[in-house]
Amino acid sequence: MTLLKAADLREFCRQLATAAGASQIASDLVADSLVASNLRGVDSHGVSLLPYYLAQWKTADVDVQATGDIASEAGCCINFDGRNAIGQLVAARCCEHAVRLADQCGVGLVTARESNHFGAAAYWAKRISDQRRIGIVLCNASPLVPPWQGREGRLGTNPICMAVPGGEEPAWLLDMATTTVAANKIFKAFNNQTPTIPAGWAMDKEGVPTTSTNEAYHGLLMPLGGYKGSGLAVMVEILCAVLSGSAIGTELGGIRFPGKPVRVSQFFLAIDVARFMPVGEFGARMDKLIRMLKSTAPAKGYEEVLVANDPERRVEAERLQHGIPIDAGTWERLTKSAAALNVPSPPLLPASPPTSGS
Ligand SMILES: NC(=O)c1ccc[n+]([C@@H]2O[C@H](COP(=O)([O-])OP(=O)(O)OC[C@H]3O[C@@H](n4cnc5c(N)ncnc54)[C@H](O)[C@@H]3O)[C@@H](O)[C@H]2O)c1
Repeated sequence: MTLLKAADLREFCRQLATAAGASQIASDLVADSLVASNLRGVDSHGVSLLPYYLAQWKTADVDVQATGDIASEAGCCINFDGRNAIGQLVAARCCEHAVRLADQCGVGLVTARESNHFGAAAYWAKRISDQRRIGIVLCNASPLVPPWQGREGRLGTNPICMAVPGGEEPAWLLDMATTTVAANKIFKAFNNQTPTIPAGWAMDKEGVPTTSTNEAYHGLLMPLGGYKGSGLAVMVEILCAVLSGSAIGTELGGIRFPGKPVRVSQFFLAIDVARFMPVGEFGARMDKLIRMLKSTAPAKGYEEVLVANDPERRVEAERLQHGIPIDAGTWERLTKSAAALNVPSPPLLPASPPTSGS
């Protein structure tokens, strides 16, 4: 396990991205979004993705020079053509447009077609909520998930994310795959040679539930809660892929399908709370809801009731203080990329973090 300060890891990733040909803006966005995910403890969508991105940029599966442009704008709706640009660059531009449209119309809806992997959806929904709007972000992904009762991949892990503006932090931030877990959790277990994964995460090639990491890696992901998660994934596919005119289901590539354009699509919705009630009143009502939830008597075996974003916020506080741990498999791949691109190694923290105050 390697331990780094967030700022050093961010700078290292930024240098890797720039050395691989990304623009300054894109490099900053890629580095910041990936490290933000590690900070929140969502390591499956952190810097472990960067070596895959670098490989895609090298083989020109992604156009590092492209920036995307508006394909159509009507009222509060934009269809953005990503033109195979870096996903984080497309997402940043779409968030800006969504907030601009929400200023004008109360809501702003931007779909992005022909885009690429943008990391964790939370980073983008939070970008909208940081502008005092409710942000809802969806995206489709490589077809690794069968529709319920199937045994062939047709859908992605298609995450659903919503961030509600609060004070410094969102008042509520839900970011979830529509599978039991995000695919990268299984890839990460495979890369780190963890032999088993928890029950309910995946199926083998025949569609039979498995806890073998190897069978899961070569098999299929489990829809969240059976046919309900499967239905939500279809909802995301409709709002992202069908609505934007981008690739649908099996037409997608992915960061692990070299040579096939990724062609993911995304959905960014910004809602201006002030069109419904004074922002202060909305904040008080959100506080009331969160207090009501968190004051619930905990079920046997639990000490408290949490709301979405509580676990990530706690990890973030801890990692900001003690550093971000990077697993051996990811670190090996990152240092290999750094050697190939002549990027110097970043400073590392001592393996066991000092206790506070020392
Ligand atoms: N870009 C892509 O293609 C893609 C595809 C799929 C998933 N993802 C990302 O993968 C990441 C991980 O997704 P996941 O589904 O594995 O996340 P997860 O299961 O770890 O968490 C899902 C949500 O549940 C909340 N939560 C966790 N424990 C809780 C508790 N005890 N009480 C209340 N709420 C709780 C979390 O705050 C989070 O909002 C997300 O960031 C998602 O955007 C990205």
